[in-house]
This record gives sequence, C-alpha cells and structure tokens, in this order.
Amino acid sequence: MTRSFLRDDDLTPVEQAEVLALAASLKAAPYDHKPLAGPRTVAMIFDKATLRTQASFSAGIAELGGNPMLVDGGLAGIGKRESIADVARVLGRQASQIVWRTYAQASLDEMAAMSGVPVINALTDDFHPCQLLADLLTVQEHKGALAGLTVAFLGDGACNMGNSWLLAGATAGMHVRISGPEGYVPDEAMFARASEIAATTGGSAVSESDPVKAVAGAEVVVTDTWISMGKEAEADARRTVFGPYAVTPDLVAHASADAIVLHCLPAYRGSEIAAEVIDGPQSVVWDEAENRRHAQKAVMAWLQDPARLEADHE
Ligand code: NVA
Repeated sequence: MTRSFLRDDDLTPVEQAEVLALAASLKAAPYDHKPLAGPRTVAMIFDKATLRTQASFSAGIAELGGNPMLVDGGLAGIGKRESIADVARVLGRQASQIVWRTYAQASLDEMAAMSGVPVINALTDDFHPCQLLADLLTVQEHKGALAGLTVAFLGDGACNMGNSWLLAGATAGMHVRISGPEGYVPDEAMFARASEIAATTGGSAVSESDPVKAVAGAEVVVTDTWISMGKEAEADARRTVFGPYAVTPDLVAHASADAIVLHCLPAYRGSEIAAEVIDGPQSVVWDEAENRRHAQKAVMAWLQDPARLEADHE
C-alpha cells in the first residue's frame, strides 16, 4: 500500500521525529537534496483559497529538483466532470505525488486509494497536517524540543487546526489544551485518538473551556481564524461566541513568560488575535510561514524515498 500523508496520525511518533529532523536538515541546506530530480512532477490541486500552501509547495518541489504542476480544480471539475477515482488514476500516471486542498476528508482518502502514488493533504475540513509539521518545526527551533511542552489552542477548536494540533501535538509528546466555546471543540473521537497516542508519548490532550486556565503556564499559544474557509455563512454567529478566546496581550500574560505565539495565517487582527500580539516580540508567525516549505519538502522527500516506495509495492 502506497504511503500517503492524509492526517497527522499517519506518521508514528518515530516517523514524525524523522520527518522533522529531515526538515531541519533541508532548511540548513535547501538546494542540496534532489529526490525529485528528473524532474519528477508533483500535481497540486486547490479547491479552496491558498497563498502559503501554493507558494511553499511550488518553491519546495522546485528545490527538490521536481516540477510543480498546478491542476486547476475548477477546470478539472473533480467529482463533477469526472469521478475522483478517474482523476486519481489519470494524475497517478502523470505525477509522482499529488497534493490536494479540498473540503471532505473522504474525497482525499479516495484519491489516495485510487492514484497509486503518495497523496498529501494540503488542508481539508478536518485536518491541516502540513501546517502542523511546520508549526512543530517552529516550536522545536524556538524551544529546543517538543516533548513535555504545553500548548494552548484558542478559538475554533473544532476546525482543521484544532484537530491537527490534538493529533500532531500528542504524537510529539506535548500537552495539548484546546479552548473554545461550547460546540466549537473537537469531537470525542478526536480526543480519544489523541489520548491513545499521548499514552505512548507522555503527552496529553484535554479540552479547557476557560481561556485563562488554558493558557496558564503554556509555552506555546496558538490560534486560527474564527471563520474557516467554507464557514463564511456562519460569520456573524461565530463572532458573537468567540470574543473571550481572542489572543490579546492580557491573555498571553497568563502564559509562560517566554511563551511563543503561532498563527497559521491568514490572520484577522482585532478578531482572533490582537495586532500587538501577532506583530509583537512573542510572535513566531513568519518563521512558521517559512517553515511550511521546509516541512513539506521533508514530507515529499520522505514519501519519495526509494526504499519506502519499493516496500509499498511488495
Ligand atoms: N482553519 C483555517 C485554516 C487556514 C489555513 C481554514 O480552514 O480556513
């Protein structure tokens, strides 16, 4: 079975550490490693808006010696003009890997099942695992390690970023606290999965509805937009419940004195995060944005490893 990267727990703790170490070494020497030489083509499809993901995958694929191929999701009409299964089989004959940003996780699963090549989740409604590898790389750079650190995620805990922090943070052995209003926390199955992973890594995964308690002593504070792509119709209702979860200087004052603040962007200053925080000294968001490229290069290089591809076909 071909390995893909569809959700954060597709990587075991050992594999996640391996990919993060590879990301750090690729960052140190960005033009030295060419596993996509040929060039091999990586197809990228975006059904939702993008800036960082398209830019970082395009640059990263080129740095690995490959050819980034942008497939226009609108023209392709995936699931409308032709089935996901047929698109998968066609792209699998043209490209060595497929990167897809879409809505339903089940669509991505089908692409991976049918394409015969590694598929990478570039964000779905449920997960954003490439962002999490970039986030973990950023935390590791600033804090020296991941295991044992406490991270507080504030705001829409039920979005892709909340789910991904639960799974990826637990995999890294971190203590993950998700803090959102009622109805905006990950579902119980997600907490159960994260706790199962955390039991093997020494981490933990909890929901804490009080934002002050959630950030108390945390070394890492994270937020994300309150209105994820696809949720625009709920914007007004969401703004009324998320207010207490805004990452303001007052809230960050409850975290560890040397806490760092992450945001995957795009950010809405004055809503989920105050300008003084995102543009202040504790913010690491520009390192985080840069690290998308290094982390994703590591995932592609790891999936393209000849030994792994050979084992997949056995
Ligand atoms: N939760 C956000 C992440 C954006 C990168 C969204 O899905 O829109």
